[in-house]
Amino acid sequence: MAEEYAVPKLENFLAEALSESANGLRAALNREVSRLALGAFQAAKCKAPFEIEVKAFRDRWLGRKTGIVTQINEVWLRAAPDEHKKAVGQIVNELRAEIQREVNEAVDEARAASLLTPSELREVGADFRQFFLESQRLDITLPGIRRPIGAEHPVIRALNEIVAVFKAMGYSVSEGPEIETDYYNFVALNFPPNHPARDTQDTLFIAGQQSKPPRDRLLLRTHTSPVQIRTMEKLAPPIRVVIPGKVHRNDAPDASHSPMFHQVEGLAVDTNITFCDLKGTLDHAMKALFGSSVRTRFQPSFFPFTEPSAEVAISCIFCGGKGCRTCKQGGWIELLGCGMVDPNVFEFVRNNGYDPAKVSGFAFGMGADRIALLKYGVDDIQLFFQGDVRFLEQFA
Ligand code: DAH
Repeated sequence: MAEEYAVPKLENFLAEALSESANGLRAALNREVSRLALGAFQAAKCKAPFEIEVKAFRDRWLGRKTGIVTQINEVWLRAAPDEHKKAVGQIVNELRAEIQREVNEAVDEARAASLLTPSELREVGADFRQFFLESQRLDITLPGIRRPIGAEHPVIRALNEIVAVFKAMGYSVSEGPEIETDYYNFVALNFPPNHPARDTQDTLFIAGQQSKPPRDRLLLRTHTSPVQIRTMEKLAPPIRVVIPGKVHRNDAPDASHSPMFHQVEGLAVDTNITFCDLKGTLDHAMKALFGSSVRTRFQPSFFPFTEPSAEVAISCIFCGGKGCRTCKQGGWIELLGCGMVDPNVFEFVRNNGYDPAKVSGFAFGMGADRIALLKYGVDDIQLFFQGDVRFLEQFA
């Protein structure tokens, strides 16, 4: 739909600008006369009253207070400096006469058309169709409206890059819900009820759940690990899967923390999966993400759902491991947690083919926002979530 015409201010009062503006107004009048006529024929066809539309059209152009004729008097003639008044006055007079003649004609014709009987309508049918086609005319040579296409968000880009590295090794991709039950977020991952390891997760609970059994209570997932269980419930071994997603914790925002952030989880289960497979896989993934000169370091750690567990660091990508401000002089940057899937976890999905005596597996979880900060050289995680176009545009 064309935009509603409004009388524009004149850029200057020279002949060229004047006639351009006058032509713009004439084109608008033409369009609106066609629209009125079309409406009149349609009203006749369905025997609807049309007088209100006719009056509105007349007022829009000739209304004494705010009609377009009054407006061009104000905006064009009255605003003209003295030396241009005469020329502007002449054009405004011509336009006024034209508008009065055409609007009055259009009003008479529309009233008559809106009252045509079905047989009269049939007689003018051919004209009407022609008229209708004319009114739908579209100039395809006019330049289109260009909309900005936006840019991939840096965190999404990091998620995609991480997922791509694992896809290339044959992993599939899975997702799970952000609102999760206590069972999937904790119980099935070997966090027993009231176990202190739960405290490390700063969980945001959903209110009003006291009447439910503890394991069914809802919370915002604190990690993507619950999707390990959901995936093993659906798919029997062997599996290789990565799980990107959003997670939430009750953390105060600062340059390196956000109460909402992103992780990529990984899980591989088969017969005879060993810690060597885990080391080789993650060493390769870190080299693919940060460059082939990056080294990895595995240190013992603890997670309830892996045994043994490890914390993985990469050699600092800024100083090559010599020590700098980013790695706090240590030469290493801690990046993810991992380990061999704890047999207790397999017990929760044993019936789907995960007998802990027969299968083994490894799992890992990494923060995607942190990886995006490092890869793209951003020094404040808050920049990712403030929606400032000047920041995001740099990733276009
Ligand atoms: N879920 C852990 C966290 O958010 C990260 C993690 C550690 C995931 C070890 C794993 C793993 O799959 O094996 O702190």
